[in-house]
Amino acid sequence: MLPIQCPFCQYSLFFNEERSYVCENNHNFDLSKQGYLNLLPVNNKKSKSPGDNDMMVKARREFLEQGFYDPLMQEIKSVIENELEFNSEEINTIDSGCGEGYYSENALNNLNNIKSNIIGTDISKHAIKQAAGKYKENFYFVSSIYNLPVKTESIDLILSVFSPNDSKEFGRVLNDKGYLIIVSPGKNHMKQLAELIYDSFRPHEYNIIEKTGEPFSHSSTHRKTFEIEINNSGMLQNLLKMTPYYWNTSKEGQEKIKNCNAITITCDFNITVFKKA
Ligand SMILES: C[S@@+](CC[C@H](N)C(=O)[O-])C[C@H]1O[C@@H](n2cnc3c(N)ncnc32)[C@H](O)[C@@H]1O
Ligand SMILES: [Zn+2]
Repeated sequence: MLPIQCPFCQYSLFFNEERSYVCENNHNFDLSKQGYLNLLPVNNKKSKSPGDNDMMVKARREFLEQGFYDPLMQEIKSVIENELEFNSEEINTIDSGCGEGYYSENALNNLNNIKSNIIGTDISKHAIKQAAGKYKENFYFVSSIYNLPVKTESIDLILSVFSPNDSKEFGRVLNDKGYLIIVSPGKNHMKQLAELIYDSFRPHEYNIIEKTGEPFSHSSTHRKTFEIEINNSGMLQNLLKMTPYYWNTSKEGQEKIKNCNAITITCDFNITVFKKA
């Protein structure tokens, strides 16, 4: 049974034959055509359509499907397989802020000697629609990471790649031996892209260990750095749409991106593993 709970009353959600999930209090959630649930209460929405929009989600999918971030995905998978210890050969995992589902499908799936029941969640309906439409074996729902419709202490591993994090809520849903993996930008991430748009680059100084407080303790950090070569401006525009730079690019910067047909870009990631303390 999926460890999910009603976002209104926190009772368990059960599948019912009508292609919906229902709780003891008769709160009912229909499965969409693609097979996902919308478990985000309307009053938890800060806007009509929160999270990444359709254009950003599609750009992300096109980019990731070219394999540009495969080295990162492989590294995450190898950290899970080689470093984490689970009590059981079957684990429950969450891809938090999963976007269009690339990491839930590729990094949490087909693990050596472990069966993983994969949940993916994101506040963007556009993202979840794409994830559920493509990766049918995983279970996706719309929700906010600040109020996860997931049972307390039911999860063994949370993966969060470039998405918001909430230690309190993550701590609640993880069991005592659970792990949290956060992927965040390393110092030189996207250096050449920033230089192209702004003529300068300020190294990232985000300290994820400081930001991730109780109930977590830092276990290890793996830095993954590699270069990608982008040989068409359409793909470079996709990459731009995946970054916060997109919202802060002048007309002139956008022109530079459009006219750039070959660029080598540094990808720099920190994969940080936390344990519930
Ligand atoms: C930079 S994207 C990363 C997506 C995916 N993890 C990846 O790396 O391809 C950040 C994601 O966080 C989602 N997001 C933003 N605020 C959120 C929240 N409060 N709860 C859940 N997801 C959220 C966005 O909709 C977006 O899909
Ligand atoms: Zn309910």
